[in-house]
Amino acid sequence: MTQKRVPSLVASLSLDEKLRLLHGATNPDGSSVGYVPPVPRVGVPALRMVDGPMGIRAIGGSATAFPASVALAASWNPRLAREQGASMAREARAHGQNVLLGPGMNIIRVPHCGRNFEYYSEDPYLSARFAAASVDGIQSEDVIATAKHYVANNQETNRYRVSAAVTERALREIYLPAFRAAVEEADVGAVMTAYNRVNGTHMSDHRTLLRDMLKDEFGFDGFVMSDWWGTESSVGAARAGLDVEMPGIPFEERVLAERLPEEVDPSTIDFPDTLPDMHEGGLFGEPLREAVEAGAVDEAVIDEKVRRILETMARFELLDTDPDEERRGGELDTPEHRQLARRIAIEGTVLLKNEGVLPLDETAAIAIVGPNADATKLGGGGSSEVTPFRRTTPVDGLRERATECRFERGVPPITESSLFDAFGTEDRVDESPADTVDTADADDVSLDAAVEAADGADCVVVVVQDDTTESEDRDDLRLPGQQDELVRAVADAAERSVVVLRTGGPVELPWIDDVDAVLETWYAGQAEGEALAAVLYGDADPGGRLPFTFGRRADDYPTTAPERFPGTNDGVDYAEGVFVGYRYFDREDAAPLFPFGHGHSYASFEYGESAVERDGDEVTVTVPVRNVGTRPGKEVVQVYVHDEDPPVPRPPRELKGFETVRLDPEERRRVSVTLDRDAFAYYDEDEGWVVSERRFTLLVGRSAREIRDRVSVTIE
Ligand code: BGC
Repeated sequence: MTQKRVPSLVASLSLDEKLRLLHGATNPDGSSVGYVPPVPRVGVPALRMVDGPMGIRAIGGSATAFPASVALAASWNPRLAREQGASMAREARAHGQNVLLGPGMNIIRVPHCGRNFEYYSEDPYLSARFAAASVDGIQSEDVIATAKHYVANNQETNRYRVSAAVTERALREIYLPAFRAAVEEADVGAVMTAYNRVNGTHMSDHRTLLRDMLKDEFGFDGFVMSDWWGTESSVGAARAGLDVEMPGIPFEERVLAERLPEEVDPSTIDFPDTLPDMHEGGLFGEPLREAVEAGAVDEAVIDEKVRRILETMARFELLDTDPDEERRGGELDTPEHRQLARRIAIEGTVLLKNEGVLPLDETAAIAIVGPNADATKLGGGGSSEVTPFRRTTPVDGLRERATECRFERGVPPITESSLFDAFGTEDRVDESPADTVDTADADDVSLDAAVEAADGADCVVVVVQDDTTESEDRDDLRLPGQQDELVRAVADAAERSVVVLRTGGPVELPWIDDVDAVLETWYAGQAEGEALAAVLYGDADPGGRLPFTFGRRADDYPTTAPERFPGTNDGVDYAEGVFVGYRYFDREDAAPLFPFGHGHSYASFEYGESAVERDGDEVTVTVPVRNVGTRPGKEVVQVYVHDEDPPVPRPPRELKGFETVRLDPEERRRVSVTLDRDAFAYYDEDEGWVVSERRFTLLVGRSAREIRDRVSVTIE
């Protein structure tokens, strides 16, 4: 059915039928995390929703577990996001699902945020490139993508109540660009509202941000759904622009409640305040009908919502499906998907430090040490958990490749927390990787044995990790447990030491000067072990660059004061304004441990002199790059804009373009990056976007702090 036929379809529905489409219901087969029921009388099939964004959370089933979004963004290669999006969508279809609840595109504002691994970056431009590419990939396989969580959901602490006090300028320049790109560049089909409030108004009630900005200004023509149990009102939300309430039913009616232990009565569960009150649901059902009948909400408002859902379904050819059958197709766990998971893990790996120790020598005797090194670090906890069909661990990967390799845990395993721990149910789809580590076996854990293994090896590889989950933030930025002690002890004993970080965001590295190399592999997904071995032995170049700033200490970040994080009296003051991440470090002239954009390659690159060309409103900067090393490698050429005489306080530099290039030894290529007019604009709350005639410097480099060339341009 074409979109043109939707208005007559809407007109043929009764009010009850329309309202059925505006809130979720129980999925009879239990396969979906969200379910909008069908209207069989007029041939409208059900909509089935599945979580992402690192692979699909197939309830009771398996899927390809890709690296975390932050790892994907660390590749600085949006083409991979498009491919990953398309692969996830094929897997969603194979599981009979039509809507993918992802990608997440919130800005990494707070280093402690427990959900940073599900997001891309502290930078709006980098986030926007990945958001658009991912949505485009998902939707290329006829699955509806969901841009989430709109907007300013930048922490998990108190996420259901907290209000972000944020200026319009910061919203426009920092927090909204990824959503705007998802709409304007990729025509995203669905948007999910955040749990939090913005400037006092709950996001599912936020008329200015939903109706005025998202729909009227950006031109979003899909449907807006609430986060799960994140709708607070009927009339307010309906008028503000929320289209669908999810999941629309109380916890006790959800199919997953059937998996509770028999003695548990779901209606009696007291949810901790890390979870919403899940005994509620149906605000867009009966109460909305009463509001329409009482004249508090115009039926035209209801019609518009129904039109948005049905038009989106028509656009994705879902209205042609038999309402009694799921639309299938798709592919699951194909060799291509497995290969892609491996490739993203490699391209997302950031070589933070390398004092001549990597790549490893084929003949070296290796000790691998780490409390969880024999388990795969798939992801963090929460709605993005994926159960893969197959997985490799760092120990597997190294044993496969090394001539000699001894494994010692060293210190007790690190727990892997999950939002689902609070349910006391079986809702987790994957056993925690830590569960595969036998914590009870004390003989297994000996610091002395780890030190001895390190001492006897040519090189020790220490695998350490953080513990993050949706619904909680980290208390501090230290590695949990005794891992710092472990790193120090084995680095001291070993001839050479390599630390592998598996973290969702920045961590403090107090031993940084005592180790020879540090790799950030994030949460690398199912192919972790093979990808790690490929990078350690130099079969592949570590292609990643940091998508956020690594400070030295937790106090280095702009969100140190309690008013800024986690907030006071249910409010968080975004007082740093647009100075988020490196924009703050630059303004303060503070030295980060590793700057935004940083990452070594096994190759070395020489930059020539840049040239600027103008074509109307576009400026293209071209720089010759040569691989002067002895190995092939990937370089990410980054272009930052500096306003030479800003009329308002502006960040000293802002990423506005980048390009990746692969070069063999001695190969030279001219790399071009094009900036449009928007790259020079700032937002003024009275005048809107401003680009006035001025001189700008374009900084061309390999990180925000390693600038190789500068050129001036005048914008008219
Ligand atoms: C999360 C969403 C997710 C939803 C459904 C919520 O807890 O915030 O990102 O899509 O649950 O699982």
